Amino acid sequence: MADGMLRVGVIGTGGMGGRHARNLAHRVTGAKVAAVMDADEARAASVARECGGAAVFRSGPALIRDDAVDAVLIASPDPTHADLTVACIEAGKPVLCEKPLGVGIDDAKRVLDAEVAAGRRLVQVGLMRTYDPRHAALRQAIDDGEIGRPLLFRGIHTNLRAGRTRTAADVIVNSAVHDIHSARWLMGDEVATAYASRVGDVPERPEATRLVLLQLAFRGGGLATIEVDAGSGHGYEVVAEVSGEHGALRTPSFTSPLLRRAGAASRAVEPDWLERFDTAYRIEAEAWVRAAKAGTAAGATTWDGYAAMRVADAAVRSIASGRAEAIPEEPRPGLYDPV
Ligand SMILES: NC(=O)c1ccc[n+]([C@@H]2O[C@H](COP(=O)([O-])OP(=O)(O)OC[C@H]3O[C@@H](n4cnc5c(N)ncnc54)[C@H](O)[C@@H]3O)[C@@H](O)[C@H]2O)c1
Repeated sequence: MADGMLRVGVIGTGGMGGRHARNLAHRVTGAKVAAVMDADEARAASVARECGGAAVFRSGPALIRDDAVDAVLIASPDPTHADLTVACIEAGKPVLCEKPLGVGIDDAKRVLDAEVAAGRRLVQVGLMRTYDPRHAALRQAIDDGEIGRPLLFRGIHTNLRAGRTRTAADVIVNSAVHDIHSARWLMGDEVATAYASRVGDVPERPEATRLVLLQLAFRGGGLATIEVDAGSGHGYEVVAEVSGEHGALRTPSFTSPLLRRAGAASRAVEPDWLERFDTAYRIEAEAWVRAAKAGTAAGATTWDGYAAMRVADAAVRSIASGRAEAIPEEPRPGLYDPV
């Protein structure tokens, strides 16, 4: 670490990685972007310039090994996550890896095993909704006992457009994984069974999925429903609702003002996650940098990423089987005990 600044290397400088890099360079104290790497070298070079002249690498593993990189942020596509995160663990470097922790359960388990073998927490998973002030307020109210024991989580998650043809597995593993994490976090429990169903939107391509609905049962008896609409057409919206013994809580859907005009009243809906979760991404990066500099870890753990992936995996199996799928109990390694 030079000048007390955490020197971060960013792998994948597209929509999400570009935002993380700019946040680290300009909105987060105590860090600088020392290196970037992207399969599209021109894109990496352009982000490097925006971040004050970071070095441009051609290989992710070379960036991870470089002595001028103290910590790594991975925002390349999902299939690259597990290998790159394991390489960071092996290099002993703190890593913020975007969700999900790979493309399936084997990837996530590989990362979990590597971190447990290393014996110290180096990984933060980019399940960042816990840093969203609207979600954090819900959790605080639950902790304050406002609704008593949580009984039911309801998550609604809409994207403006699908952007690409998406399978049910992609919608579940890439998108619903956020809502699964929120459900575990707000219900304070692990999921025992998952039942999933889907709605297609392209008759000639039966795998093309517009919408998935998950129904989860928790070990302690609570329930959750999660709806993800991959192409709502109306905007990007994330709603979390928890019903408890004595009351119910719901995140506010909008921060935009109520507009009354020409005989109608309306509110603007955010177009995408970069706008809706702008504050959460900044706070997440601040927490990561602080923890990395202190030699500790913050945010969603590898266990959280793995547990969410196990639920996603059961949901994908349920689409195929048409039945609820069980998630066998698995002890959480001591490394992830709450401190
Ligand atoms: N936490 C969140 O809310 C959130 C939101 C969006 C995306 N994500 C995650 O971030 C990651 C990136 O998503 P995105 O929306 O930025 O996608 P994107 O397509 O905009 O960017 C991906 C970038 O990775 C580059 N790339 C491709 N293969 C690579 C490789 N092998 N090595 C290095 N770079 C490579 C591409 O050239 C591109 O610039 C995904 O894993 C996604 O799931 C998380």
